[in-house]
Amino acid sequence: MNKEDRLLRVGVLGCGPIAQFAHFDACRKARNAELYALCDVAEDLVARMAAIHQPRRTFLRYEEMLADPELDAVIVATSDPFHVALSQQALAAGKHVLVEKPLGVNVEECEALASQARSAGRVLQVGNMKRFDPGIAFAHRFIREEMGQLLALKAWYCDSTYRYTMTDNLQPLPERSQGSRKPEGDPKQDRERYFLLTHGSHLVDTARFLGGPLRAVRARLAQKFGAYCWFVEVNFADGSLGQLDLTIAVRMDFHEGFQVYGERGSVLGKTYLPWFFKSSDVECFSTKDGQYHRPLGADAHFYKLQVEGLADTVLHGTPLQGAGVDEGVAAVRAMVAIARSTTSGDWVKLAEVKGGV
Ligand SMILES: NC(=O)c1ccc[n+]([C@@H]2O[C@H](COP(=O)([O-])OP(=O)(O)OC[C@H]3O[C@@H](n4cnc5c(N)ncnc54)[C@H](O)[C@@H]3O)[C@@H](O)[C@H]2O)c1
Repeated sequence: MNKEDRLLRVGVLGCGPIAQFAHFDACRKARNAELYALCDVAEDLVARMAAIHQPRRTFLRYEEMLADPELDAVIVATSDPFHVALSQQALAAGKHVLVEKPLGVNVEECEALASQARSAGRVLQVGNMKRFDPGIAFAHRFIREEMGQLLALKAWYCDSTYRYTMTDNLQPLPERSQGSRKPEGDPKQDRERYFLLTHGSHLVDTARFLGGPLRAVRARLAQKFGAYCWFVEVNFADGSLGQLDLTIAVRMDFHEGFQVYGERGSVLGKTYLPWFFKSSDVECFSTKDGQYHRPLGADAHFYKLQVEGLADTVLHGTPLQGAGVDEGVAAVRAMVAIARSTTSGDWVKLAEVKGGV
């Protein structure tokens, strides 16, 4: 594996499933980062993960990891309600942050984090790793550079009823600990809220990445036989039309993708279950040459690419490729607006929402 001379020294906070499936490996494989430290309150989990991944340092207390002057950045890989406070602590300690999606669970805490991030002079990137899917990144560039004005965008994220059958085969068995820290109550009990936050955060971010800022939404929710289906009308800030479909779970294969209609071209995209590490199939038709353009994204380790993106920004000042803190706030606003509209049936403006999903 080729490593660059200067490596971003990353500490992963949390040794739970997402760290095990994605972040440890991502830091170790990244060309410009290293897995410098890992931290979890669960001592047995730290010992098992350290034996496998060989970080230079291990910590049971977050404060001690943050006090390490060698540490450059933290990946916050903990349960959603902890994201904001733990990111704030990292910024206060002068560390750069990659925080898992969603940025937080309510608008106010996310706004507070955003204002701290702006004055901290440190990079804060949200773990919307789909922005690093080479197919989606290609679509984004085409839309920005060639397509001209946006007319309309449709995007869908329909989890498969066979998701866990597939992921159980694709992922290693996660190591668990009785000592892991969990939030009060079980956030997964409220399925409607949990699905919107955990899956909706991907859908909304992809819509924003490709279509730009959302101004208002009007959403309907159907709930039958344990399945949840949100159909969301979107009004983009530039007046374009949008339509989002979040369905958990469809009785078929994983179904995620997008269609974008523009002035000088269109885009069709099909995205795979992330754990296949396969780039989205994207076709961009350009009226300039009358041809479809189809990239082949050879390296689609989105989690590695997002760490590399963070490291490029911190070490070399490369513009942030991932979602920044304001985009994290906007995604949370969009999800809160969808939740409010589901209840009221009315259009809800993102700028006016308060509270949580
Ligand atoms: N981007 C993606 O594709 C993707 C996929 C799955 C999960 N996620 C996100 O990843 C996050 C984590 O998910 P998970 O299932 O691994 O969570 P988890 O709660 O199972 O594990 C988190 C670990 O962090 C530790 N922890 C929490 N607070 C701590 C603290 N203050 N100090 C030290 N250790 C602490 C816990 O002990 C636990 O072991 C969630 O926000 C989830 O939305 C993202």
